[in-house]
Amino acid sequence: MSQKISLTRHIIATGLLFFLAVAFISCEKYAYDPPKIDLTTPVSFKNEVFPIFNSNCKGCHSGGVLDFSSLTSTWSSINKTKYIVAGNPESSLIYTKLTSGSHESRCPVDDRNKIYSWITQGALNDNE
Ligand code: HEC
Repeated sequence: MSQKISLTRHIIATGLLFFLAVAFISCEKYAYDPPKIDLTTPVSFKNEVFPIFNSNCKGCHSGGVLDFSSLTSTWSSINKTKYIVAGNPESSLIYTKLTSGSHESRCPVDDRNKIYSWITQGALNDNE
């Protein structure tokens, strides 16, 4: 009788371990899924990127080193290797800043992905 109980316990424990392992593996998979960003549709600085900065960032970044108050001030403040390495968003502070710390919540993920695509596509200024 007691052997039967321990067998049942054993089966339950094994099942629980299996369940946890599956849950863990699926979380890992989810965490390392690369972001699905559309890199092929051209992103416009003037019509798409500037409005993101102007509406989400101008409140705090206006008139200083980063000035998102106008199209031309936005371009002149971010058009520096410190902020943009054309073709390489992972090395561009203007993008990486938005993926960590206090700035993670400053702009919606879709907008952040647009900035990623725009930098990947060469960070071109279609206003000039
Ligand atoms: C609520 C205020 C606030 C908002 C909104 C805000 N920022 Fe900032 N940002 C700061 C402060 C304060 C710092 C300096 C401290 C730090 O680096 O976190 C900063 C720093 C930065 C830096 C680093 C500057 C440097 O030269 O090291 C970048 C890049 C930046 N912000 C981009 C943005 C962008 C892009 C947005 C909009 C999506 C934005 N910020 C929105 C307050 C803000």
